[in-house]
Amino acid sequence: MNEEQLHRIERLPKVELHLHHEGAAPPAFIRALAQKKSIGLDGVFAPDGSYAFRDFVHFLSVYEAATQVLRTPEDYARLTTALLEECAANDVIYVESFISPEFCGGGDLAAWREYLHAIQDAADAAERDMGIILRGIVTCIRHFGPERAKATARCAAETAGDWITGFGMGGDENMGQQKDFAYSFDMAREAGLQLTTHAGEWGGAQSVRDAVQDLGVERIGHGVQAASDPALLDLLIEKGVTLEVCPGSNVALGVYPDLASHPIDMMRKRGVKVTVSTDDPPFFHTTMRTEYRNLAQTFGWDAEVFADINRTAVAAAFCDEQTRARVLEKLEHA
Ligand code: ADE
Ligand code: ZN
Repeated sequence: MNEEQLHRIERLPKVELHLHHEGAAPPAFIRALAQKKSIGLDGVFAPDGSYAFRDFVHFLSVYEAATQVLRTPEDYARLTTALLEECAANDVIYVESFISPEFCGGGDLAAWREYLHAIQDAADAAERDMGIILRGIVTCIRHFGPERAKATARCAAETAGDWITGFGMGGDENMGQQKDFAYSFDMAREAGLQLTTHAGEWGGAQSVRDAVQDLGVERIGHGVQAASDPALLDLLIEKGVTLEVCPGSNVALGVYPDLASHPIDMMRKRGVKVTVSTDDPPFFHTTMRTEYRNLAQTFGWDAEVFADINRTAVAAAFCDEQTRARVLEKLEHA
């Protein structure tokens, strides 16, 4: 593919389903807040100013350290504006972010509604100014354990509606089992929320099967380890589960040595519903434009493939039908 074609692909309109709110914070944003509030952030940054981490577990601890500076609803409002500006600059027209009440103001769940209002106000302003649409997925943290997840699910259930539309789980997949969190996912489902969980990023294919069978999720964060299990791929196809694949994140964290070794192209060709997202873009030195460029270069994906991927993402979006129709219309007419 020549440079002009890649340039055109990079600039296609995009739908992003898997973006961590705090993980989208540019390092300069976190550093400035730390300085303003005189909060020490030893070990969070490399000498060149980027985030510094050795491996996945270290990444999670650096990530959590960085969130310590996000102490007021205003901080979350400014973060929301910053991340939506970055999404819009990457031609993203609709995005869902994972928001963890556990990281809002040091985990004071009583303040959740104030944080949510601040985030939503900033999102409304961004939609007015830039046309970009954001919806929120309340997210529990797996390594904080099932009891804290229940409290987070209660936050989600109490604020479920047109804007908080989903419930999910991130964190260290090596801790516990998906079924340990079934109570929380059931509570969220009963509140009308749609469900996703991180699975098959680090856990094997069985963790993806567990997510579908024990939690009844309709989407899976990553899910790439399912690639080794043909019967599981058939199950994902049969159940219509959509994978929120984050290729750049997987390569940056060492799940795969390079993009050419990544199974996204194989799974797509086999008929699995795959979508493309960035996960925590500044941590992984990626953007949506970079993801599209690299996928086009590595797998020869053309504009028609990306259009198909975006239609899959719109169909799997956790939003009301009016919003879905609006996003689809924007995609088709871009
Ligand atoms: N939280 C932020 N990024 C994550 C990832 N890639 N996996 C699990 N939890 C996360
Ligand atoms: Zn993630």
